[in-house]
Amino acid sequence: MRDGGVKAADLLAWYDVHARVLPWRVRSGAWADPYRVWLSEVMLQQTTVAAVTGYFERFVRRWPRVEDLAAAEDDAVMAEWAGLGYYARARNLLACARAVVGVGGVFPSDLSGLRALPGIGPYTAAAIAAIAFDRPAVVVDGNVERVMARVFGIEVPLPMAKPVLVAAAAGLTPALRPGDYAQAVMDLGATICTPRRPACGICPWSGGCVAGGKGIAAELPRKIPKAAKPTRQGTIWVGRRVDGAVLVERRAAKGLLGGTSGFPGTGWDGSEGDAPVVGDWREVGVVRHTFTHFHLELRVLVGNFGLDTAALRGEFLGANAFSPGDLPTLMRKAYEAAVGG
Ligand code: ADE
Repeated sequence: MRDGGVKAADLLAWYDVHARVLPWRVRSGAWADPYRVWLSEVMLQQTTVAAVTGYFERFVRRWPRVEDLAAAEDDAVMAEWAGLGYYARARNLLACARAVVGVGGVFPSDLSGLRALPGIGPYTAAAIAAIAFDRPAVVVDGNVERVMARVFGIEVPLPMAKPVLVAAAAGLTPALRPGDYAQAVMDLGATICTPRRPACGICPWSGGCVAGGKGIAAELPRKIPKAAKPTRQGTIWVGRRVDGAVLVERRAAKGLLGGTSGFPGTGWDGSEGDAPVVGDWREVGVVRHTFTHFHLELRVLVGNFGLDTAALRGEFLGANAFSPGDLPTLMRKAYEAAVGG
């Protein structure tokens, strides 16, 4: 029966039975450690729950409290983060941990205090305020936008629809159990109100869902088509010394993969560049990687060098200090191409 609209209480009743078990999540009503909530939400920005789980568990095992993380070496954190992508998040993570420890190790519980911390935008601030402090903050990510567009039958395409979707989300956010509610909408979006094939038949909100009633849930939210991603090109040099040392270079702090360790390369604008060691380089293949705004194709060149080789760029890192698992995914692909080539 469609009774015109949906209620937070119906979703909360569903959540009480069907909440996903996630390593950063606590039982309803139990104290949620703001450190773990913050860490999980930063990791989950632009990444899936499945991709984050292992990283989250390794981080909290190694750094159980915000004080531990704040005291960590930058390189150790970058290495643990390797593979999660968007490396500015890892740098902000450390800056944020240190800022929190600087004010006594206590996370602020209000939106403006949270927003003032490095790496915490409107979504993350609202998620922490709701989940860790049970504040009725309006939490809106891509999942929530999709659920709201469907429940209210909002056919205005994204990104124009954003303010309307935020207003819709605000109208539904309850004063009671806002933290559980925020997580319940996310779970609904991840498990039932999924992008392509929503399972409207088992949805706790199906009775009042406008798009479900019209049979157009899968079509919403509508989106203005994005411009196709351009493809950029470059070259990367994987140099090895006879003793197994590998030529690595730290990237500038700003920009893509900023602050991460990898192999020397050209810019990614197709321009030529000088090899980091003068000598024989052999092309072994091309690696491809997709960033948010472009595809990248890098030619991988491999060179083998003697012990007395001088590098023009980067430094040779001894075999026992070099761990391919600590590299960003793009660099790991290049290493695999080099080793296999
Ligand atoms: N995605 C982002 N934050 C989440 C959370 N707290 N629970 C489930 N999915 C999420």
